[in-house]
Amino acid sequence: MLHHVKLIYATKSRKLVGKKIVLAIPGSIAAVECVKLARELIRHGAEVHAVMSENAQKIIHPYAMEFATGNPVVTEITGFIEHVELAGEHENKADLVLVCPATANTIGKIANGIDDTPVTTVVTTAFAHTPIIIAPAMHSTMYDHPIVVENIEKLKKLGVEFIEPRFEEGKAKVASIEEIVYRVIKKLYRKDLAGKRVLVTAGATREYIDPIRYITNASSGKMGVAIAEEAELRGAEVTLIRTRGSVPSFVENQIEVETVEEMLEAIENELKAKRYDAVVLAAAVSDFRVKEKADAKIKSGKPLTLELEPTPKIIDRVKELQPEVFLIGFKAETGLSEEELINAARKQMERAGSDLVIANTLQAFGSEENEALLVTRDSVKRLPKMSKRELAEKLWDEILLLLE
Ligand SMILES: Cc1cc2nc3c(=O)[nH]c(=O)nc-3n(C[C@H](O)[C@H](O)[C@H](O)COP(=O)(O)O)c2cc1C
Repeated sequence: MLHHVKLIYATKSRKLVGKKIVLAIPGSIAAVECVKLARELIRHGAEVHAVMSENAQKIIHPYAMEFATGNPVVTEITGFIEHVELAGEHENKADLVLVCPATANTIGKIANGIDDTPVTTVVTTAFAHTPIIIAPAMHSTMYDHPIVVENIEKLKKLGVEFIEPRFEEGKAKVASIEEIVYRVIKKLYRKDLAGKRVLVTAGATREYIDPIRYITNASSGKMGVAIAEEAELRGAEVTLIRTRGSVPSFVENQIEVETVEEMLEAIENELKAKRYDAVVLAAAVSDFRVKEKADAKIKSGKPLTLELEPTPKIIDRVKELQPEVFLIGFKAETGLSEEELINAARKQMERAGSDLVIANTLQAFGSEENEALLVTRDSVKRLPKMSKRELAEKLWDEILLLLE
């Protein structure tokens, strides 16, 4: 591996280690994103090989992709039969062909079995036995063309996955690099949570004082979102209840709420409608709400006293509705010794019936990192300081063991 590739290899995660990805690049202006996309895939451990159409080579030079991937770039099919080398059915073949950014032209050719560019030849070679993901990019008028629409539908029916473009400034712009990486990991990562249904809450609730002012807390939603995304990437069917203003998430099924009341209602609806295997309550819900919310904006300039009343304890409702569910609660406290924190976690277990409590000090709020104690009825496991993404990974490993 070249030094400048080694420097970034698997620095973000090891989720794509051992995976060989062919990045097949057609001639869209969004090809300029491919350098960053390839580097990001490598940061998750992938080996990336670029293949470029003749038109792509007019937009970015193959040297850029050679640099980005650290591998030779296929710019034409020669006597080395590059398409078979990369995508033929053999033990060294690619795990995924990612056509990005896909032009109307290339989509049309693939849909009709035409292969007269390095990109389309590699796709044709891979079609029968290797997953193919297409991320389109084109003008909206091209994207709305009935034949382009038909071609995309035809390919979807044949099992090709599409990453929807973003519609901005009259264009169907290629999806963000973050979204493409998420979808690639979702396709290739281990599926040890397949068949499990999981409900996760994330973020800080808002309790309104008047129509525009509210009481909230410093939770960013990062921990809950990381937990929900990790579960979805590993094959679980995930519902994420995310509070407004939290960090965004790529989880497919999301419900947005604001107040504790809305959060409780959303959880109750879910637990009444479907049987869940695990519920993870990572949201920081307000313990108090304003007793009487003002209907109009409260005038400034005078002292104001608010009377607060306690909110319903969401965690207590979960096992009432589904006694069998595996319930994971959080306990964040300040000024407690480790022993006191463990005791507080065990108290939550007794009261709400949680099966696992992730206990931590409040420094984690809003930050990228977290360190935590995993407390069960008969064990305590200390996890050192790590990123919330890594913690989410470890957490599901642990939950899987406990579920079994
Ligand atoms: C600067 C530039 C930007 C282009 N961007 C797009 C695009 O985003 N989407 C698209 O479908 N075609 C785009 N085209 C047109 C394609 O390059 C053209 O349809 C070409 O035949 C595609 O060939 P290929 O699919 O084999 O790469 C662009 C052309 C140029 C010169």
